[in-house]
Amino acid sequence: MEFKKFKTEDEASKYVADLILEELKQNSKLKLGLATGSTPIKLYNNLSNDYKINKTNWSSVLSFNLDEYLGIDKNDPQSYQTFMNEHLFSNINISIENTHFPKIGIDYDELINKNGGIDIQILGIGTNGHIGFNEPGSSLDSKTRIVDLTQETIQVNADKFFDGDQKQVPKQAISMGIDSILKAKKIILLAFGASKKWAISKLKSIISFDSNFPASSLILHKDVLVVTDSEAELDL
Ligand code: F6R
Repeated sequence: MEFKKFKTEDEASKYVADLILEELKQNSKLKLGLATGSTPIKLYNNLSNDYKINKTNWSSVLSFNLDEYLGIDKNDPQSYQTFMNEHLFSNINISIENTHFPKIGIDYDELINKNGGIDIQILGIGTNGHIGFNEPGSSLDSKTRIVDLTQETIQVNADKFFDGDQKQVPKQAISMGIDSILKAKKIILLAFGASKKWAISKLKSIISFDSNFPASSLILHKDVLVVTDSEAELDL
C-alpha cells in the first residue's frame, strides 16, 4: 500500500483527477469504480472542469458505483444516482447507459466481471474504517449485498447530508462487498480532514485483515494508493 500526502484536499483531488485523465487518454474504454460522499466531490469537480476546457472523451467509459441507499427512489435528491448525475455525469459526455449502480435483483459482481472488471476503483473511508458500505464485521469474501448501516455511519451521513436528522437517513444500502472491491486492478482511496485521522493512522499500522476494520482488507491488494491531505495524516 502506497501513501501519498498532500497539504490540501484541492491539491490531492487535482492529482487524482490528472491520474484518471492520463489513464483515460491511454484507454478510452476505462472502467471506473466510483464512490459518493463528501470526499470525491473535488475530484469530480476537477474532472468536470477538465471536460469544459479539454473535452476529454468519456463516451466509451463504463462506471460502476460502489453503493446505493435502499428505500429511496433513484431519482430522490438524496440518492447516490442523483449525487453522481449532479457532481459528475451531467458535466461530462459519459453515456448514462454506461453508468451502473448496484440494485436488488441484479448480479452486480457478475455484471462487473462480464465487462472485464474495474480498472480503477475510487474509495473513501468511513470514520469507522468502512469501505463502500462494508461496515465492521464484513467478511473478506463479501459480495454485493444488502447491508445495514451502523449507528455511527447514519449519524455521520445525517450531519453531512440530511441537516443532522438521522430519521431521514436510509438505514440500509446495497453495497459492493470487500471481495468485489479487491477485484479492481487498481484502488485509490481518498481521505481528507481531521475526522479521518484515526482511520488513516490505523490503516498505516495494519499488518493483516481485521474484519472490525474493513479497510484493512486493502493490505491484500497489490496496487493500492492512499491519497490524503495534511489533516487526515498529520506527520507532514
Ligand atoms: C460512498 C461510500 C462510503 C464513503 C465513506 C466516506 O459511496 O461508499 O464508503 O466513501 O462513508 O464518506 P465521506 O466521503 O462523506 O466522508
